[in-house]
Amino acid sequence: MNNKLRSDLKQWHELEEHAKIIKNVPIRAHFDNDPSRFDDFHISMDSMLLDYSKQHINKTTIEKLCDYAKACDLEGWRAKMFAGEPINITEDRAVLHTALRYDNDQKIIVDGHNIMPDIHAIFKHMEEFSNKVNQEQRFTHIVNIGVGGSDLGTFMAYEALKQYSNRNISLHFVSNIDATALTETLRIIDPEKTLFLITSKTFTTQETIANAVSARKWLKKKLGNKDISDHFVAITQNVEIAKDFGIREEQIFPIWDWVGGRFSIWSAVGLPLSIAIGYDNFKAMLGGAKEMDEHFCSAPFDENMPIMLGLIGMWNRNFLKRKSLAVIPYSQYLHRFPAYLQQLDMESNGKSIDRNGNKTPYDTGSVVFGEVGTNAQHAFFQLIHQGTDVVPCEFITIIKNKNDIDKHQKILLSNAIAQAQALMDGLDNNDPHKAFDGNRPSTMLKINELTPRNFGKLIALYEHKIFVQGILWNINSFDQCGVELGKILAKQIINNLGTNNENTDIDSSTLNLINTIKDK
Ligand code: F6P
Repeated sequence: MNNKLRSDLKQWHELEEHAKIIKNVPIRAHFDNDPSRFDDFHISMDSMLLDYSKQHINKTTIEKLCDYAKACDLEGWRAKMFAGEPINITEDRAVLHTALRYDNDQKIIVDGHNIMPDIHAIFKHMEEFSNKVNQEQRFTHIVNIGVGGSDLGTFMAYEALKQYSNRNISLHFVSNIDATALTETLRIIDPEKTLFLITSKTFTTQETIANAVSARKWLKKKLGNKDISDHFVAITQNVEIAKDFGIREEQIFPIWDWVGGRFSIWSAVGLPLSIAIGYDNFKAMLGGAKEMDEHFCSAPFDENMPIMLGLIGMWNRNFLKRKSLAVIPYSQYLHRFPAYLQQLDMESNGKSIDRNGNKTPYDTGSVVFGEVGTNAQHAFFQLIHQGTDVVPCEFITIIKNKNDIDKHQKILLSNAIAQAQALMDGLDNNDPHKAFDGNRPSTMLKINELTPRNFGKLIALYEHKIFVQGILWNINSFDQCGVELGKILAKQIINNLGTNNENTDIDSSTLNLINTIKDK
């Protein structure tokens, strides 16, 4: 089984054969034949409900998908991840963002060492620091400088949980190397009252270090000869480089190699969030994630939200040949969720080599995109309803909204429901321009309210979905070798800008483009 390609498994072939039959049955026909279809194809978990009844599936599909997941030893891999085995094989690392959600009395051994006391020591430090910043009110502007996993998760979570935040403190996020990002932030902050958090697992990321150096230069200029060291905090695995940068040891919050960047919101990378919403709310978010972990580890496959979300995604991708996935949260607070999810999903599962080093003859990660509803409806939904590609959709609705004015919330939620219905039912019309084929699949995730706890569950749900798909495709979801080549070439271009380029390996297009930026 070990060296076998996933597509050689007998369960894979059975799914291929099954797809040939089910593809011809319109989704709507399943409902017409079985009025209680919803009962069989939804999962409830207290404050959450996942309705996947509007997918191209029947009971046999689910049975066959679950058989396939079993043949991939999903249970075994899940146990390995939670136990801290080095399942990130290319980097020989454990994948333990879940340990950040454990209680203190649990024991997780990595390299012969129990990591739980280390985790809780950092949490204590985060709690004290967050409380201090909130009580003293010395800093009213917090600027997080970081990129990718050191930005997207906390930025998205800050926006999502803004209603819980201390409105006397403004959080800003600077990620892009385009100096506009930093410049526009520096325009609106008060140097005396600004705390810079330099968030970088490696502390070597070009964009982050360049922005941090420029921010420090700006602050020195603004504050003259004053000691500015208390204005800088580092969140990193690379404590020594952070110290060399001039950050005081007590202002450094370590993270560990077993937390992947895009899974790091639960670690000290979440410090800006913990300051903004308060440590208790931050811990409530971790508590919600832990509840999802427990559900993921204990619920039977066909009642397991991350597993079903992962399996259906794979069913659409590999057997119904859908290339992309649209994720549409019907909540303004979740407006950064699609951007965050793009990294989480595509950096994890955008791979074409399996764990055994084989080129995968089957498709893996989808192109993930999205935008909040209803804005998305007025942008790309034309293609989703009438385009030549069928784009499966995942709708996320939040039922209770404290900001409701008049009938806004009812209008918002009605739109979400209507989109899913329209995609499935379509519409006949004599004018072909106005006809809708329908038969387009979607899943609806309903969450009662966007509390820190429910938000934690939501994020953990997607983390586990992506893990599940990595196992189904037999790929390592926890490295990101694909981002390296561009970084290396960019460095070569920068280094050669001052010289006459005699490297005959460079094509004429690239050479011309380099020449255009030489005098910039
Ligand atoms: O370039 C991709 C990446 O390595 C991401 O995986 C990571 O989240 C991001 O860069 C930032 O890395 P760091 O936290 O080390 O600055």
